[in-house]
Amino acid sequence: MKNVLIVGIGTGNPEHLTIQAINALNCADVLFIPTKGEAKAQLADIRRDIVSRYVTRPQSRVVEFAIPVRQTAERSYHQSVDQWHAAIARAYERLLLEELLDGEVGAFLVWGDPMLYDSTIRIIERVRALETVTFDYSVIPGITSIQALAASHRIPLNLVGKPVEITTGRRLAESFPEKTETAVVMLDGEQAFMAIDPEARIYWGAYLGTAQEIVISGRLGDVRDDILRTRADARARHGWIMDIYLLQKGRDFEE
Ligand SMILES: C[S@@+](CC[C@H](N)C(=O)[O-])C[C@H]1O[C@@H](n2cnc3c(N)ncnc32)[C@H](O)[C@@H]1O
Repeated sequence: MKNVLIVGIGTGNPEHLTIQAINALNCADVLFIPTKGEAKAQLADIRRDIVSRYVTRPQSRVVEFAIPVRQTAERSYHQSVDQWHAAIARAYERLLLEELLDGEVGAFLVWGDPMLYDSTIRIIERVRALETVTFDYSVIPGITSIQALAASHRIPLNLVGKPVEITTGRRLAESFPEKTETAVVMLDGEQAFMAIDPEARIYWGAYLGTAQEIVISGRLGDVRDDILRTRADARARHGWIMDIYLLQKGRDFEE
């Protein structure tokens, strides 16, 4: 039987790795590192750095593989993601068939935590459903970008006794502020905060955990233009950006 470890590696700071994650990487015979093209080369570099810092097992091998690009033309969002996952599942299937021997352990280094806006677990389940390669797998948690954001701003995530919604830029308008007083927004390519009530508070962060980390917070109406400008400049300078923010209305102990 082959074994797969899906290891959360945190969001850019190599010190985000838990001892459990370091031990898992040191159990692996093969360390799978995804590459996402020139623009996101830094993300593969961070994974290489993690391997060279923590992996002490001389016989382990690193295998880099290209993540297929998501096609968006002439299909709905759901079709596009479904087809993309199918293509990644085929790539994983090939890795498990060709790069991992029977009885060996392979580790996928997953950004942040594998349960949060990441499809490695569901894609690994798709590979199992293909029934072309027999394997078992386990998941090792990691520090998420939500934790990194809250820590950098020194804030608790929720208001006392209140819920939090985690959503995407595309869906923000459906929930905040009518349905929830605290929303965490990820994967926002359209800067959805620009359309939100300027009285809300925002805690924004980009490249959290990395040397380029930027954080801005304040009354949305006061800081939103600054965030927009800072984001565009940083994106142009680095060629890529990952940002996340928390929006809040209301206060602790307010009903
Ligand atoms: C595909 S999701 C992966 C989330 C990841 N699994 C986690 O646990 O945070 C990518 C989104 O996570 C957020 N993100 C991940 N890493 C980040 C970082 N270092 N700084 C800011 N946002 C980050 C951004 O909203 C980005 O669009």
